Amino acid sequence: MKRIAIIGATGAVGREMLRDLESSGIPCDLGLFASARSEGFELEFRSQIHKVEAFSLEALSGYQYVLMSAGGDFSLRYAKALADQGRVVIDNSSAWRMDQDVPLIVPEVNGLKVAGFKKGIIANPNCSTIQMAVSLKPLADHFGLELVQVATYQSVSGSGQKGIDELRRQAEAFPGTGEHLVKNYAMPISANLIPAIDVLTDDGHCREEIKMIKETQKILEGHEFSVFATTVRVPVFNCHCEAICVKLTKEVQREDVMKVFSDMNGLVLYKTSCEYPDLPTPLKVTGDQRVHVARVRLPLGQKRSHWVQFWNVADNLKKGAATNAVQILKSICV
Ligand code: A2P
Repeated sequence: MKRIAIIGATGAVGREMLRDLESSGIPCDLGLFASARSEGFELEFRSQIHKVEAFSLEALSGYQYVLMSAGGDFSLRYAKALADQGRVVIDNSSAWRMDQDVPLIVPEVNGLKVAGFKKGIIANPNCSTIQMAVSLKPLADHFGLELVQVATYQSVSGSGQKGIDELRRQAEAFPGTGEHLVKNYAMPISANLIPAIDVLTDDGHCREEIKMIKETQKILEGHEFSVFATTVRVPVFNCHCEAICVKLTKEVQREDVMKVFSDMNGLVLYKTSCEYPDLPTPLKVTGDQRVHVARVRLPLGQKRSHWVQFWNVADNLKKGAATNAVQILKSICV
């Protein structure tokens, strides 16, 4: 029986980790941790009530595997100490992702990198990066990638529970602007969209875009390509959507692309996207563990091209966070 701890168990991602661990079939003795504010809070796992404990390094003794989702500052402070004591820490924050000694893993894409992993930190990539990487992998392998252009439509659950609460409060205030209810974001998110995510940099990018660029290149290491990203927060509660345009090294037909998408693990391809009800949307994809791809197309009127466009949707709390982390865990501990 593996002893597994979830740190951040009361958060939006932590609660999904609990659900995914429950359905993963991994036999475990589970510990749930959060801040002292949540001590004693009850959560159900496999028909048993578990009480949340306040995190401390001492309280973690005896746990071999740690799923961590308590924010970047927390991870910077504790992940290494926990790993140095001989544990595997699967960290959902951005703190360690670009550290050259830390593997950045999407199991379907580069899971082999952590085969036999016994101790240390494994980073769970950024949510919008994970879903894009799953769709880029077969394209890179079969046709070669030269350029990726992506525009994202990212839900508020990507900011954790506080993002969900903020959209709900502002939506309730509609038709008011919700201006007086702005706390987490720089401007109202209800009836609006925000054309950048995280800190803006002097060169015109924002930090979410930089994560998507650098993390995608790290995950698909060995393939040489450029990434342009525009990341946008939209008033949707859950699921991130992406309009992706790629330039491939080889010329392809639409059917070639459909074939490699169909064969990709963890990807659901919508082949007949001529009817609106068939298209993947946030409402439809919420709760699903896979990446949904639709509207695959070449430039208008062309039968062959280096350019391909498609639509990509995934549940950012599931495949973009909790599911991916639990899949990594399962690959190394079962
Ligand atoms: P708590 O609920 O007690 O604040 P989200 O990203 O949805 O906001 O969730 C963040 C998670 O990280 C929550 O479970 C939160 O616990 C937890 N957390 C935040 N700070 C700490 C901390 N210093 N120690 C342990 N858990 C923390």
